[in-house]
Amino acid sequence: MAGLPSYPFDPELLVGTVTEVGPTSAKVNLPHAASPEAQWHHGQRQGRGEVGDFVVIEVGDSAVFGRIVTIRLPEKERLSVEPELGKLREAHPVGVVQLLSTVTIHNGKVTGGISQYPRLGSRVYSAQSHFVQWIAQATSKDPATDKPVYLDLGSLVAANTAPVQLTPERLFGRHCAVLGATGGGKSWTVARLIEQASRFNSKVVVLDASGEFHTLGGAIRHVHIGTGPPAPASSEEVSFPYTQLTENDLFALFKPSGQSQAPKLRQAMKSLRLVQLESKLSSANGLCVKAQKAKQPIFDAQQKHAKKLEDPRADFDITRLPEQILEECVWPSGGTATAPDQSKWGGYQENEKGFCITLITRLEDMLGSPELAPVLKPGFLTPVADIINEFITGSKHRILRISLKYLSFAHSTREVVANAIGRLLLNLARDRKLTGCPLLVFLDEAHQFLDKSLGDEANRYPLDSFDLIAKEGRKYSLNICIATQRPRDIPEGVLSQMGTLIVHRLINDRDREVVERASGEIDRSAAEFLPTLAPGQAVMIGVDFPIPLTIQVSKPEAEPDSKGPDYQANWSREPEPEPKVMAVGSVLPQELVEITDDDVPF
Ligand SMILES: Nc1ncnc2c1ncn2[C@@H]1O[C@H](COP(=O)(O)OP(=O)(O)OP(=O)(O)O)[C@@H](O)[C@H]1O
Ligand SMILES: [Mg+2]
Repeated sequence: MAGLPSYPFDPELLVGTVTEVGPTSAKVNLPHAASPEAQWHHGQRQGRGEVGDFVVIEVGDSAVFGRIVTIRLPEKERLSVEPELGKLREAHPVGVVQLLSTVTIHNGKVTGGISQYPRLGSRVYSAQSHFVQWIAQATSKDPATDKPVYLDLGSLVAANTAPVQLTPERLFGRHCAVLGATGGGKSWTVARLIEQASRFNSKVVVLDASGEFHTLGGAIRHVHIGTGPPAPASSEEVSFPYTQLTENDLFALFKPSGQSQAPKLRQAMKSLRLVQLESKLSSANGLCVKAQKAKQPIFDAQQKHAKKLEDPRADFDITRLPEQILEECVWPSGGTATAPDQSKWGGYQENEKGFCITLITRLEDMLGSPELAPVLKPGFLTPVADIINEFITGSKHRILRISLKYLSFAHSTREVVANAIGRLLLNLARDRKLTGCPLLVFLDEAHQFLDKSLGDEANRYPLDSFDLIAKEGRKYSLNICIATQRPRDIPEGVLSQMGTLIVHRLINDRDREVVERASGEIDRSAAEFLPTLAPGQAVMIGVDFPIPLTIQVSKPEAEPDSKGPDYQANWSREPEPEPKVMAVGSVLPQELVEITDDDVPF
């Protein structure tokens, strides 16, 4: 019985007998299930067969651990539980037990799945709460109890016991997804996980889409992209300069149309990079003028700087882009129709300029828009890439919170920037910068960022950084924890990479189906309990969990600022009288004229 907290088959806790066995469940006689009261055992309430109760079935040297998922009375005994029909008649309730895992009694080993099936007549016992807690924490290879680093997320709902301790390997080792309908408690759970992780020498990046994690404290650095009142006041405004975006990112922002505009935009960016490297090719206003000019000097410069030009992050003056696009609209050769001169470009091609005009006006509009300023006009703000590098190499902070609250949805800025941050992190990981310093990235409101692709039919710009992190980050010490209210918006390829699912209340059928598909056969029964969870309660499902656990997540110390509107306070307030505003030059109403006249001293 090494390792087991107690002998699981206590005769006082006998609740029934197996009458039918299937591959994943067993039918059980539960003679006491119709009695009105539960029983008490050593000061703990012990169910006598209730839906959701955990049970252990005695099978030779093993205990098969399971959970009651339905109970019913045989049809002819339905009325036996009606007290007003006279004396209570005997009832013979039958329950279905979902078989979850096997515990070997002599060595205390817990294995997910069933290695030895119950037999007809096997006895079924109610599982004691400390036994449930023990089994919840124990897996065959990773018991948290003897590890120095563990997170305390909450306590088991069924057992109402001391905290369940989970190692970070088990929670995040194969990534983690926090799912649930709005108000289910995802943000609070994320805050709790972050707080627990920050108790140790960890490195955590929080991408905060709504700014609600500004309450987090401790060894944390707060930065925000975009302009607005900083929360907390210590938060520093940073930028994501366009020079750190890839060509694809810029195309996703500018959305050139396929056939005519995209090649001109590409060419214009290349020309502007070239004049940055070879100033003698630049005109007085910083452009690379091609009309009627010799091609060779430009070709030579392109060859000379080929390597630098290929770097997608090579610098260029983006304010010149609209004009440079017009400079690209030239005939491919000079001379005349009868005597073409291939060594020169020809004059301007007016119809091509016409094709590009919508792109040019869009670009001018974007270059002047304050929403895109953190990207297109970064000024002297520190780039977020530098902040991330500093965070990873420095020892002062354990959490880096990047608030995206002020980053506009217009022109898809938010998606493109979040995706670019994901790419930065993935590149750091691929360059082995995280070996020895695992990085955990939290992405709340992930449906805003995942499975997005911008552009039209001809030009698709997939925003797939986080998908790639989910697929390959683990090998490079980069793990991700995503939280979303729309599991069906997460690509199935990503969800299937998630080793741990923390699922709060989920009502929508299609969302529940997605969870059921992502979890194994054993956990499917757990999905049936999802619509009935209270705020803060969650089912934990995953490859490393021998049983699906229903836990009450403990409140985080710093509650996220995620409250809904306060209708009572707002709707019960008397409306303030509207100030009388008069337009300049308007005729004064009669009563005002009179008052004013009386008041004027002579
Ligand atoms: N662990 C918890 N303990 C107690 N109450 C909780 C817990 N988690 C959540 N709640 C309650 O539920 C409310 C909503 O929680 P939260 O903001 O985390 O929801 P959410 O799932 O992130 O919603 P949304 O999808 O709209 O962002 C909280 O304001 C709080 O009152
Ligand atoms: Mg939330």
